[in-house]
Amino acid sequence: MQIHFPSSFLWGAALSSYQAEGGNSNCDWALWEKERGLEQSLKACDHYNRYKEDFSLAKELNLGAIRFSIEWARCWRTASDCDESSYKHYHSVIKTLHSFGIKPIVTLHHFTNPTWFINRGGWEKPSNVDLFLKYLSHTVRLFRSEVDTWLILNEPSVYLYNGYISGIWPPGEKSISTAKKVLANMMSAYSTGFQEIKHIYRNSKTKVQVSLAKNLRHFVPAPKGIRLLNGVSASVRSHIFNYSILDSLAKKRQMDFLGINYYCREYDQFKGLLGKELTDVEGGGRKNYLGWYVDERSFYKLLKSLKRYRLPIIITENGTAEGDEQYYEDYLMSHLTSLAQAINDHVDIRGYLWWSLLDNFEWDKGFGPRFGLIHVDYQTMQRKIRDFAYKYAKIARENTLEMFE
Ligand code: BGC
Repeated sequence: MQIHFPSSFLWGAALSSYQAEGGNSNCDWALWEKERGLEQSLKACDHYNRYKEDFSLAKELNLGAIRFSIEWARCWRTASDCDESSYKHYHSVIKTLHSFGIKPIVTLHHFTNPTWFINRGGWEKPSNVDLFLKYLSHTVRLFRSEVDTWLILNEPSVYLYNGYISGIWPPGEKSISTAKKVLANMMSAYSTGFQEIKHIYRNSKTKVQVSLAKNLRHFVPAPKGIRLLNGVSASVRSHIFNYSILDSLAKKRQMDFLGINYYCREYDQFKGLLGKELTDVEGGGRKNYLGWYVDERSFYKLLKSLKRYRLPIIITENGTAEGDEQYYEDYLMSHLTSLAQAINDHVDIRGYLWWSLLDNFEWDKGFGPRFGLIHVDYQTMQRKIRDFAYKYAKIARENTLEMFE
């Protein structure tokens, strides 16, 4: 069966500055990699110097939107020094996208923070929220006439969990009470930032769209142990991790659309109400290169659950890293089939961005996992479009999908 997507549907891909640009030495992640002896991002994919080539490949793939982030630490070398040449660079990035007819979707915070911000206590201090807002306001004013879609934060719950609960990301804390403070400060930055962006565009002809990119997982009870209790943990985790931020922002009417990042299903076992994730489940299904359970039906179910917000949805990230090339196409086609089914069931989805345009630096996992539509040879920095990306390009061009059985 053939499915036609709405005529204005956005097909695209996403990137983040730290993971792709290279040369970002002024932020907490660069320091963390050195201190922990992790693989270092260094030149990453050298996207900072090669963005024109990269966007021309995106054009070749018929992409109509690119989501990228601005690196706060690059643009503000200290709390009071704004670096004009870095802003000039991003001007040129946006201009290049427009010249290819590609819509820029811009993220303001994608996990990294300037070291000077961290030295002042980072997100733990309520008074530091203004430092982020200063950057936000300056940036949005500069690009007001060229950008109409902003994502203030990327995945605050992932940032919080990895940085303040499991401690595998900077600042490496393991404290629920600190995590709560950080969450409150980030959400206050979001809310004030949302109003500030609306204020900046108040006299503009452009209708600005503001949101965040929210990671959703499908939490399911593990088949081992007492299923009913596992189910309790799965729904507690689902409420906390998936819906609590969305519920509160929806109540305040502070999202113009839902930005959704989806990758996988998670199995949970009861261990106190919060339970714990089981990473090895007999009969649990296929795992990708990172050991994540691939499940397109979970994607469909989550999309259906979002109907209650009555907001348009953009899939701001969906993708996989695979050891075996053939699985990229399976993942893409099966997830797009779920997406099409959700649209058929009246879920208002306006766009889909594959993570990622390029293979890139996968945080604590280094350069091993490859998510790109475009393969990057990290020695020569040569780019090569993957086979499955040509399928994606065809879907984007025809705006039609042959459903995957
Ligand atoms: C993040 C990306 C990351 C991707 C794959 C998302 O959680 O926004 O930065 O690379 O997932 O792990």
